[in-house]
Amino acid sequence: MSYLFGLIGYPIKHSLSPWIHQQFMEKANIIGEYNLFEINLETDFKNEINKLRQKNINGFNVTVPYKETIINELDELDEQAQKIGAVNTVLNSNGKLIGYNTDGLGYVKSLEGAYPAIKNKELNILLLGAGGAARGIYNGLKSSGYLNVDIANRTLEKAEEIKHTNISGMTNVLTLNEAEQVLDRYDIVIQTTSVGMKPNIDTQIISLDKLKSTAIISDIVYQPIMTQFLKEGKKRGASIHKGHTMLLYQAELAFNIWTEKQVEIGNMSLKLQTILEG
Ligand code: ATR
Repeated sequence: MSYLFGLIGYPIKHSLSPWIHQQFMEKANIIGEYNLFEINLETDFKNEINKLRQKNINGFNVTVPYKETIINELDELDEQAQKIGAVNTVLNSNGKLIGYNTDGLGYVKSLEGAYPAIKNKELNILLLGAGGAARGIYNGLKSSGYLNVDIANRTLEKAEEIKHTNISGMTNVLTLNEAEQVLDRYDIVIQTTSVGMKPNIDTQIISLDKLKSTAIISDIVYQPIMTQFLKEGKKRGASIHKGHTMLLYQAELAFNIWTEKQVEIGNMSLKLQTILEG
């Protein structure tokens, strides 16, 4: 059997997903294609999704700006996708389209892969930002058993909204200024906004003056790989977690949903880093 997978979004020409899934197919010994289906904003979205159904696509990823819009076209939603209110992975199960969200759990898997010891600890975690990415990571952390996850954001209402998507454990909502002042409370600090992304590589969301040297500092921005935020964290002695690994692990979970096959990320992280730095 030959598989057909793909990605919908706009713009997606520079997506790394075809490379990632091609590697997965080789590792899993399966034959197939992962194609880009760019859908511009003027196109009839429903019709484009019907075309994918007609192609008997096995599954597809969804990226900006369709992670929420796609929900109207689906037959079922899994629990994570419901909580997050967004879908990044769709499985075609005998004609029934089922929506999943692997962003948050992929992020957690990437972090635990790099720092396995965190699983056994009661850690204080701080998320910086309260957009779509933060919502996914917050729910991924909470559903993986991390109870103390605080959220700091420029707009407090957005952080409050995320807090209400999951009731287990404690969540404090802070301003970015407050976060700077109490940074020494946190074992893991996760930057979830686009601040620091190319071309604005000199920008940083908060200062890290009070960061503990034993902390892990993580940035979901991966262009550049070493953001200003990570550089400062490293200078202060913290351990760092780079953004591109989330991309690999959310893809690995999607691949598993589509094929029920488990693949090892292995040296793909280094390879991807080389491609991004290319
Ligand atoms: P995404 O879906 O990629 O997470 P988003 O929903 O637009 O993107 O969310 C962007 C996040 O980055 C928000 O938390 C936003 O803060 P506000 O909620 O106050 O808008 C945050 N953000 C973007 N630019 C920022 C900046 N210059 N300083 C601080 N926060 C910023």
